[in-house]
Amino acid sequence: MNRIFRRNPAKENAQPVEKKAFTQPQSDTLGLVPVVKILPDMLITSHNKFIKMYQFPPITAQAGGEEIDRIQKKYAQVLASLPPRTRFQITVIPEPMDPTPDLEHFFNLQQKWAKQGQENTTGLDDLDVFPGEQIGAATPPSFKSDSSSLNTQQIEQSARSFMALITNWYSSVNPITWRMIITLSYMPPFQPRGGLFGFGSRNGHYIEELSSRASVAREYFDQQGGLLLQAFKNQGLELIPLDGPSMAQVVWRVLHPTTTGAQESSASEALQKVLNKDAGPAGLRTVPDRAWLSPGATPDQIAEVLAPDNVREDPNVIYIDGVYLKGYSVYDYNPGSMVHLQQLTSFPGGFFGSLFVYVEDPAEIAGKLRSKETSLKGRSHMRRSKGFIASFGSEQEAAEVETTRAKMEMGLENPISIRFFILVAAADMNELKSRAQKMENILITLGAKFFATTHNQLHTWQTALPLSHIATQQKKRNMTPGALQTFFWPPQDRLFEEGGRYMGIDLNSGAPLYFNPLGKSSDRSPTLLAIGKMGGGKSVWLRTNMLIGLMQGNSVFAVDLEGEMEDFVKTYGGRYVKVGASSGDRINVLDVPLDDEEPLVSGVEQLVAFTSTVLGREITHGQEWNMLAEAYEAAIKDRLGSLNPKDWSPQKAPVLSDIADILEHMGEVGRSLSAGLKPYASGVYSQFFNTPSTLDISNERLVVFGLGNVHTASAAEIRKRAYLWQVMSIIWSETVSRHRKNSTHITDVFLDEVWVLLKAPGGAEAIENMARRYRKRQGILWMATQEVDEFLYHDVGRRILKIIGTTILMSQSDYAADGLQSLLHFSDYIRNTLVEMPTGKLVMKLPVGTKIVRNFVPEDVFGIL
Ligand SMILES: Nc1ncnc2c1ncn2[C@@H]1O[C@H](COP(=O)(O)OP(=O)(O)OP(=O)(O)O)[C@@H](O)[C@H]1O
Ligand SMILES: [Mg+2]
Repeated sequence: MNRIFRRNPAKENAQPVEKKAFTQPQSDTLGLVPVVKILPDMLITSHNKFIKMYQFPPITAQAGGEEIDRIQKKYAQVLASLPPRTRFQITVIPEPMDPTPDLEHFFNLQQKWAKQGQENTTGLDDLDVFPGEQIGAATPPSFKSDSSSLNTQQIEQSARSFMALITNWYSSVNPITWRMIITLSYMPPFQPRGGLFGFGSRNGHYIEELSSRASVAREYFDQQGGLLLQAFKNQGLELIPLDGPSMAQVVWRVLHPTTTGAQESSASEALQKVLNKDAGPAGLRTVPDRAWLSPGATPDQIAEVLAPDNVREDPNVIYIDGVYLKGYSVYDYNPGSMVHLQQLTSFPGGFFGSLFVYVEDPAEIAGKLRSKETSLKGRSHMRRSKGFIASFGSEQEAAEVETTRAKMEMGLENPISIRFFILVAAADMNELKSRAQKMENILITLGAKFFATTHNQLHTWQTALPLSHIATQQKKRNMTPGALQTFFWPPQDRLFEEGGRYMGIDLNSGAPLYFNPLGKSSDRSPTLLAIGKMGGGKSVWLRTNMLIGLMQGNSVFAVDLEGEMEDFVKTYGGRYVKVGASSGDRINVLDVPLDDEEPLVSGVEQLVAFTSTVLGREITHGQEWNMLAEAYEAAIKDRLGSLNPKDWSPQKAPVLSDIADILEHMGEVGRSLSAGLKPYASGVYSQFFNTPSTLDISNERLVVFGLGNVHTASAAEIRKRAYLWQVMSIIWSETVSRHRKNSTHITDVFLDEVWVLLKAPGGAEAIENMARRYRKRQGILWMATQEVDEFLYHDVGRRILKIIGTTILMSQSDYAADGLQSLLHFSDYIRNTLVEMPTGKLVMKLPVGTKIVRNFVPEDVFGIL
């Protein structure tokens, strides 16, 4: 059996047909369009029904698994509260996610670096060129960037690699989003004169007659729709009513499954369009414009706009415009685990589904159950009286039936019955076979009973239309609201924040995620901390974000304790500063923080932090603190001639021996502080610490401070930390100074193995301080640590956790996962995910919700993996 439909068959017949020649079309596809009239607030179908649709509100991209859980419970409560005889249809309509915004994101970065490459050769400064800011804007560049050593070509290449990566991801995974449409229908009790019109009737007179009853339909919807809306509203879920043209667009989606079945080619098409900016509007095949679907449109015009071009029905598949579909009728279902439902929602290419829901009259069902109960009881009584062992199964069933019946009689539970249809789609038969197999597997694991519809594909497809019309008959099944609660697909928005940066793939939505640590949310602290066990991917994650920061045009500073980042700098340019090497640059911890708002305070704090570090104990406000402040002021006056920052200059900054000398004359306490500073001021280490800075990084976009030598050599802990503070002080003053030159400039600072810093006396305070002031300076602090215990059970760790805006959790031991769960309050599901997580996957506790993310980076991007 082959049924073939063609748009304008007469015209098409004249042309040579494709290779796989169709037999003579039997009908035109216009006849398949079941909408005959679009009213401003309703549709009229060719089955004499008025239709009204509501859309389930999309769940914000912020929502994590827990939120969806909560919504599902609410949804079950909605179902339980609906009055008997309520009926509606739920249609799940997949839409392919459009890769265009992702591709444009990386394309813009690529273009920016291509341009930058050209400008660099002409010697233009690049520090003042940012996304959104035009070259040659009001503020002239303050210096020439002859020393900016970034490898622009390599960065441009990376942006290309990301475009390729995203394209491949979209083509192989086909991320989809979906809409959940709730449809109500009304059929006027008296059919128009002329009697029954078949499917596809477009008789003008009949439609006019039907339209004249619109006000009765409206009244009905006000009442029935009102009850439904109210039931949802009571649970805090507000349905969004659709207007006529939007409803027609929804119907178009189902009539054009191409929009979900054929993404294989669309990602690379989108890429092509983005690359040749001018080749028409980017994006996927989109729904027809609302203007074409106005209430003025005649039935023939509507059919013209909505109809597919070619439809062929075979016994096992239906073919529509290049996409093959296979239908299923699901006739029984046990609520399965969330995990499997997740599979259904991320099903490749998506699926169409229509669920017809009827709230039955409890009294009627209770009556039926009573007779079933009697018969079950009777049967087991009979078995017993005949000397058989009582059947446990039927006794148990009788007991269950009794409980259900009792609940219904007491009005505790609404009996609900459903009919459910599913269609899977693919662009070719092989892919369809594999998807069909996948769908069957999922349905089996879900505990669903189903059959593949044969010789009935057209009807199954028509049943999937949101028109409250079941074209293929099937016995209805009893369900309970609780069992239906997971049978539900709240649509999801993707997280793509303005100014956001690529943070990997959100494995729930299947789409790349863009988060802006400096974004609007008021509680947002631009401080991120990754915690994970050895080899969990922390350093790779940091380097990925260093590259993204570079691509975005930010300043990137990193502290490399392990000596792992030399490759990164070799690849992308910038400076690798070997700290503490005997030949090499020197950093003065007392460099005057000229660009700070309160340079004196800042300078004192810097000196206190350094002194704390070398003394190996904390210096809190009090006598010692005051003395250090006094000594600092005196040294400044001495060297710079005044306490007024206007008179200061970096070349004349004091050095440690100035401070030590002054402290020497400040009594016993002063002498003891001075003695602590001695080794650095005039002793063996003075060549590293008691010198004016020789390091100038003011023109560098990427600077990595390598402490590998210091870290692994036998240098005492204290000295290592002293070096660390040198580095931290220069990073801070550079951040401040860049922000002052350009208030939109972003600085990314990366600290791996941050625990080393934190455990130093005063370390936590210094980090806290920096983090607090960073937001104002457009600075983002990225940190990673392996030491879970230290964070969980030390005061310092807990304090730092409080200022962290975003926690990133990687693979954890059972023990660590328990600790983190109680501290960060996430679900058991997330806890278990953490323990089983492979390298490269992470749980991001963003200020906007928890996401499971894959840190997905192109393999040909160097210096990262
Ligand atoms: N996103 C990723 N994609 C692919 N491979 C990855 C990814 N992240 C990490 N890896 C692999 O795992 C290895 C270990 O990663 P990484 O060095 O980042 O772990 P770590 O948590 O910093 O470990 P350590 O605690 O030893 O410092 C990397 O060399 C790389 O091969
Ligand atoms: Mg590491």
